[in-house]
Amino acid sequence: MYDFRPDQSPYWAQLSTAALAPQSLTNLFTSEPNRLSRLSIDVAGLSVDLSKNLVSQPQLELLLAFAESSTLSDHRAALFNAEKINETEDRAVLHPALRDFSQLTGISSALRATIAEQRAQLLAAARAVHSQQWLGSSGKAITDIINIGIGGSDLGPRMAYEALREYRSKDIRIHFIANVDGAEIRTLLAQLDPETTLTAIASKTFTTQETLLNAKTALQWYRDTLGIDHIEHSEHVVALTAAPEIALAYGIHPDRILPFETWVGGRYSLWSSVGFGLACAIGPEEFMNLLSGAHAMDVHFAQTPFDRNLPVLMALIGLWYINFKQFPTVAVIPYCERLGLLSAYLQQLDMESNGKSSLRNNHRAATSTAPILWGQTGTNGQHAFFQLLHQGTHVVPVDFIAPLTDALSNVEHHTTLLMNMLAQAAALMTGKDAPEHEYSRHYPGNKPSTLITMETLNPHSLGALVALYEHKVFVQGSLWGINSFDQWGVELGKQLTNNLLGSGTEVNSLDPSTQHHVERVKRYNSDPSL
Ligand code: F6P
Repeated sequence: MYDFRPDQSPYWAQLSTAALAPQSLTNLFTSEPNRLSRLSIDVAGLSVDLSKNLVSQPQLELLLAFAESSTLSDHRAALFNAEKINETEDRAVLHPALRDFSQLTGISSALRATIAEQRAQLLAAARAVHSQQWLGSSGKAITDIINIGIGGSDLGPRMAYEALREYRSKDIRIHFIANVDGAEIRTLLAQLDPETTLTAIASKTFTTQETLLNAKTALQWYRDTLGIDHIEHSEHVVALTAAPEIALAYGIHPDRILPFETWVGGRYSLWSSVGFGLACAIGPEEFMNLLSGAHAMDVHFAQTPFDRNLPVLMALIGLWYINFKQFPTVAVIPYCERLGLLSAYLQQLDMESNGKSSLRNNHRAATSTAPILWGQTGTNGQHAFFQLLHQGTHVVPVDFIAPLTDALSNVEHHTTLLMNMLAQAAALMTGKDAPEHEYSRHYPGNKPSTLITMETLNPHSLGALVALYEHKVFVQGSLWGINSFDQWGVELGKQLTNNLLGSGTEVNSLDPSTQHHVERVKRYNSDPSL
């Protein structure tokens, strides 16, 4: 219903032509006197400066006309009205309903009540842990939580736990185990006291191989150390899942299954019970502030005309770079060490949502889609890959992100940090001519960036920041005509792994290279002396 073929829009050819003219960022500032104020938008505690992007006012107007002519407006309404816009999985996409404090989403009152009930259950459990009222089997308070989950059941709470260090209780530590690499969980378990450790098995489907194997290892550790047989039924284990019936069959006590609905995508699940560990660490009130920051961004996205709508503008500029300027990657560089996991989080959000070449209605994409998103913190990156940003042959648009104040730092450090960021953005834009015969000291400049700042990094501003990117991804998916809410691309590899692990697999039906290495892995893991 929201089918859209961007390349068939009359605007597509006009945009292609418009992109051909060479343009200079510094000239745009002189030819467009109000550029900074026109391209600066404050929303939900975030201040975003889009002025250093390589797009002129007429080009932006063309992009906006393209968006207006598309199905985006109806598609956005459908998102907030609970239509089943995830067609391949026959589901609505309702993560905004998890943080809806103003009846923004058009859901039934019964569903609203279910969401409220699930949230109350999550907050009550988190409050019990946060206030050290949640006791282990020997009566000692829980001090450590192992969050076992992967992808969306790991990256959101892990990123936010790091980001919100200032807000964490000193009495509760969260340890995140995602990879099936046994060295991680075995090393962690050796450091923990089972009597004071709670394991949260986070899995939307409760079928993910890595998560179930890590959970099995953790549960065995409890059995071996505490001598409790039905450990999965004990107060040491909770499930965070949209498949409560599977968690129940697994043996988890019904009171300790914190459910959410299947219309919450894994990479959009931070706002659901998947945020349990985070809520235990920062407490229920601050968790609610995270949700309200995201809600403030939802309201902006749902109700603001496209030409002042931040997710829409960021999406259009990103699409302009990918489809018309041939800049296929984007770097996310926070100048705040606590946001060090943001790029990994956004990588899943963007690349698992829009890294697709099939359109709605089974058409093949005729245009490029998701950016290759990468990055790490500044100033560290300055001493690593910034060389390529300044002088390499690729143009990499950068999102610089920073809090303007930092209570955990001091003025000297923080000013130094932020001036580094501003200097990098300016250097990327203006460049510098080489002295004669010294081309290695030439900085071509004209490299675009976006600057996102917030007064402080707190639950509210973090919630708004994450929701900003969620909606940017939605807008781009809509304009490319793809369904951003499934992820069939990851299935084939999962199936093949299961085949390789299954006893019935005929090794000689595999290609020679895989066959050779499967045999080696089996040999090394059956006889350690080899
Ligand atoms: O393999 C991809 C994926 O399905 C992600 O989309 C998801 O976040 C992750 O695996 C974990 O899935 P689950 O929460 O069901 O264990």
